Amino acid sequence: MAVPFITEVKRTHTCGELTDAHIGQEVVLFGWVHNRRDHGGAVFIDLRDREGLTQVVFEPDIAPEAHELAGSLRLEYCVGIRGKVVSRGANVNPKMKTGAIEVKANALTIFNRSEAAPFPIEDHIDTNEEKRLQYRYLDLRRRPLQQSLMTRSRMNALTRAYMVENGFLELETPFMGKYTPGGARNFLVPSRLNPGKLYALAESPQLYKQLFMVAGFERYFQIVKCFRDEDLRVDRQPEFTQVDVEMSFVSQDDVFSVIEGLLQRLWKECLGVDIPTPFMRMEYDESMAKYGNDKPDLRFGLEHVVLTDLVRKHGAAGGVPMLWEAVEAGGIVKALVVPSEKALSRAESDKLEEIAKGMGAKGLARAKVGEGGEWTQSPLSKTISPALRADINEAVGAKPGDLVLFQFGREAVVHTVMANLRLHLGKKLGYIPEYGSGGQWRFLWVVNPPLFEYDEESKTWVAAHHAFTRPHDEDLPHLGTDPGRVKCYRYDVVLNGFEVGGGSIRLHDPKVQAEVFRALGISDEDARAKFGFLLDALKFGAPPHGGIALGMDRLAFLLTGAESLRDVIPFPKTKTGTDLMTGAPGDVDERQLRELHVRAVPPPQPK
Ligand code: AMO
Repeated sequence: MAVPFITEVKRTHTCGELTDAHIGQEVVLFGWVHNRRDHGGAVFIDLRDREGLTQVVFEPDIAPEAHELAGSLRLEYCVGIRGKVVSRGANVNPKMKTGAIEVKANALTIFNRSEAAPFPIEDHIDTNEEKRLQYRYLDLRRRPLQQSLMTRSRMNALTRAYMVENGFLELETPFMGKYTPGGARNFLVPSRLNPGKLYALAESPQLYKQLFMVAGFERYFQIVKCFRDEDLRVDRQPEFTQVDVEMSFVSQDDVFSVIEGLLQRLWKECLGVDIPTPFMRMEYDESMAKYGNDKPDLRFGLEHVVLTDLVRKHGAAGGVPMLWEAVEAGGIVKALVVPSEKALSRAESDKLEEIAKGMGAKGLARAKVGEGGEWTQSPLSKTISPALRADINEAVGAKPGDLVLFQFGREAVVHTVMANLRLHLGKKLGYIPEYGSGGQWRFLWVVNPPLFEYDEESKTWVAAHHAFTRPHDEDLPHLGTDPGRVKCYRYDVVLNGFEVGGGSIRLHDPKVQAEVFRALGISDEDARAKFGFLLDALKFGAPPHGGIALGMDRLAFLLTGAESLRDVIPFPKTKTGTDLMTGAPGDVDERQLRELHVRAVPPPQPK
């Protein structure tokens, strides 16, 4: 008679928990056939579930029926077994948690057969990612992905527990809202019931969470999906998850300590690592000067040195017209030193120039420092004045054998090229591993950035973050006269070169808000059209408030040491925003489009 698995004979253990403490017990396991071996009569399988592997043996004299059925088992069959836990005797496998035992089966059922999988369900495979994404449900059976997603589940649970313990309410906000300009590009959803009108999918719950503060909820959080139609990078997905937080009656320090406590808890509970708090803080300006961006990887040095003032001081007498002209034109000059002990060959230095060009540089000026401080291998060395060379050597701390790399020109380009070059060298010279943290967790807050950035294209000041960030009180007098000087209460939390979160203290005072709009050249009418409902809300006794959003995908990616954000997202999109498993985005039929009052325009034909 068939054993009534599932209905009556329930699973007793997972495949990851049996040890010699269970020897002699009768157990029931469910799972997938991970591998299978025939050994002179006996059939062995490793049975796998999300918790691990257990060896099961079918012997003809113990259970002839089960043994015969076991002969038909193939990889990835989904099965149930019942049997007795026995010692493996001399064949103990110390590498496996269940390696001390095996289960001698007395019953077997096949819940479902499996076709041959398109790639092996093993920890390390070299199948290309397209194939793996196409059969994502099989890829997700592999242990590294199972473990990453289980860690991610734990991170969610820990986050909820921590936030609730600290008095936060988990409140939901709409995904479908009104389009407001600024920020990331939105995905748009046509409304069937309102012909010609569109919803925007929320790029974040920003405005709603501020309205929760106006409504008096005081402490809000949400683990929430956000949607951004951006160009994708290694750390970006079009839909991603934030731990979104907003608090009333707080200063920046209060927000920091809540977030530090959360990150400390996640690292402790998931990795057993103690993260020291408070995190280091760095001024935005210092970060730009030393690292060229506002998300420095502090696991290694190779800091930039700004030479602009030095070059200006020497002027034309410095002997290098291109440096001097760059400064005259309002640009900057930066250098970084590759130390002699990490010496690059001539060919490697040449290759570096190609890499810098790929990053948007026109070239990569360089100088090898000789015994007496002279420069070689450098077009600069021919004309530079000894005084400027000595000053640069001193400023960058050059020693004989060091290689000094230079960038000069437009500030934004110089910063970006030098930031990327530093990271490239960090990996190439072995200061940081290609992937993963190398066991180092360098958290920091980057604080006090400017409120506005100058937009070269439109020749206007634009909000560097969003128009509701609170300026420093002492900078308010400069709002009308010198907007570039105004610093604000905006902050990013950075880990090992990734921005893992960002937020700000908000503007809650309608008077200052109006001044900021004026500085941005936004008329009252425009402001009303764009943010009318928030401006109205601020008039009704809005409390001082501030908040932050952490990028949960990035946190999970860093915490688990994954190679890509896709490894910590169950069903991710490719670089071009497609889902290879379902085929999204896909076509819909004419009738559906008509209902939505939308007409499809064929894409332009390639010329
Ligand atoms: P921000 O735009 O900085 O702030 O986003 C917060 C954090 O979300 C993560 N993130 C992303 N992760 C994966 N893919 C993406 N495309 C992506 N875009 C952003 C980053 C980032 O630090 N409403 C504000 C927060 C606030 O002011 O409170 C906001 O969304 O880790």
